[in-house]
Amino acid sequence: MRIIFIGDVVGSLGRETITTYLPKLKKKYHPQVTIVNGENAASGRGITEKIYKKFLQDGVDVVTLGNHAWDNRDIFEFITDAKKMVRPANFPKETPGLGCVYVKVNTSELAVINLQARTFMTAIDDPFQVMDQLLAEVRQRTPNIFVDFHGETTSEKQAMGWYLDGRVSAVIGTHTHVQTNDARILPKGTAYLSDVGMTGPYDGILGMKKEAVIEKFMTALPRRFEVVETGRNLLSGCLIDIDDQTGKARHLELIQISEDRPFLE
Ligand SMILES: [Fe+2]
Repeated sequence: MRIIFIGDVVGSLGRETITTYLPKLKKKYHPQVTIVNGENAASGRGITEKIYKKFLQDGVDVVTLGNHAWDNRDIFEFITDAKKMVRPANFPKETPGLGCVYVKVNTSELAVINLQARTFMTAIDDPFQVMDQLLAEVRQRTPNIFVDFHGETTSEKQAMGWYLDGRVSAVIGTHTHVQTNDARILPKGTAYLSDVGMTGPYDGILGMKKEAVIEKFMTALPRRFEVVETGRNLLSGCLIDIDDQTGKARHLELIQISEDRPFLE
């Protein structure tokens, strides 16, 4: 099966980029499953029901989240009914929402898991132990398993990639908003990428207006960050081919669309 994963959609410019390019990407690559990280989709902070539904309408199969999942209070109104959305599986047990969802692909299934790292982030449950528990259950059902590992450091992400090698089909990082150039298939068949990058403003700093961010670095004083809502855009993603009999990845390829890397039909 073929999966397209598109990284952290930031604000309205990010959402417009999905609406514009997802049909073109589908036409070019013919993926069976499309996954989008949407934790920054509502003005850079969280997601609303309206945005979640628009993603599905645009052809997204599963929306993944991360540390900003809870920033927009709207989430608590619809997360229980959102069966095509995953929040990090290693939040405490009582947390609403699902950590893993299944997508049907012909006669097989893909499990989509969201997980959050802990280095320089909120100290939630251990993602390594949570994955051991979760995989005991998920692997009974399908060998095809996609993991969006939402984290700050490349070291923790690489550790997770190696820890899960041969037990999941892909470990793809999100959260830093900068695409890394280390896409590879690990020896036991897990597709690995430290970070898939962001989708949205091309001329900001991680999607935010650059002036306030520069000022914060120069003054060390608090500044209010705002999302860039107009101007040039960027789409970052990757393409993963999985042998659905074994769950092993065959191919992993980076996708980037911007004025510097124009989309070729
Ligand atoms: Fe994040």
